[in-house]
Amino acid sequence: MPRLEGGFGDNLKVAVFGAGGGIGSALVESLADAPNVETVFAISRQGMNGAQCIAPVRCMDYTDDNIEALARDLPELDLVICALGILHGESFGPEKSRRDLSLENMQRVFHVNTFLPALIAKQMLPKMKRNTKSVFAALSARVGSISDNRLGGWYSYRASKAALNMMIKTMAIEHTRRFKNSAVIGLHPGTVDTALSKPFQNNVAKEKLFDPEFSAARLLDVVEKVGPLESGKIFAWDGQEILP
Ligand SMILES: NC(=O)c1ccc[n+]([C@@H]2O[C@H](COP(=O)([O-])OP(=O)(O)OC[C@H]3O[C@@H](n4cnc5c(N)ncnc54)[C@H](OP(=O)(O)O)[C@@H]3O)[C@@H](O)[C@H]2O)c1
Repeated sequence: MPRLEGGFGDNLKVAVFGAGGGIGSALVESLADAPNVETVFAISRQGMNGAQCIAPVRCMDYTDDNIEALARDLPELDLVICALGILHGESFGPEKSRRDLSLENMQRVFHVNTFLPALIAKQMLPKMKRNTKSVFAALSARVGSISDNRLGGWYSYRASKAALNMMIKTMAIEHTRRFKNSAVIGLHPGTVDTALSKPFQNNVAKEKLFDPEFSAARLLDVVEKVGPLESGKIFAWDGQEILP
């Protein structure tokens, strides 16, 4: 990709959490190509494939319990993108009906989609650059919009993303008070061809199923455009705001 524009400077230091995921790895690749990005911290639970960890990419592992220690090893950051999330696991899928609700599965989904991004934001927001533009973005989903919910179903995923959106808004209010050039936003990547969407792609028109590379490029376009006035909002890949 060309330079990361929109008020970002030079020698940028950026971090992607969930860097081993479909969208996360595409974001790492795009950012690594930008000539004004000095280092991309690719942060993943699984340890990244060695071929992906060539400068300017620096791979780092983390667990739920060491986010605070990880933050101590990072420099001041211009951009952090939290690209983790789950919709289904080996033994469970999104609920079709209220009859499918289970405490264990709700906890799993909220853990990854809401609690971890909030804990990552807790540790990363104090590390953001204060005097120049900085952006913290978490991957959310359009289905987390309460006003947009016409089909029902997917209880835990929808609710966990709605709760994530509230975390983003609340973090934004606190953060942007002191970090005047910053934005804390949520992003909807579109329907993207990744492991997360794989079982649900049958009914998606071909032109509406994005490659991770396309989605990553559009999301970075949005990141370029946002500033303090947009902080706390959720945006789709095409820049449209998604209402709560
Ligand atoms: N694909 C779509 O159509 C779509 C649509 C709307 C929203 N989204 C959102 O976009 C984001 C990225 O999704 P994706 O499509 O790239 O999915 P993906 O390929 O399945 O990647 C998701 C990543 O989330 C991390 N993750 C999963 N389980 C975790 C756990 N228990 N603890 C910590 N991290 C965990 C993993 O990253 P590491 O292995 O690197 O740790 C995983 O690779 C998610 O927030 C998703 O909700 C996707």
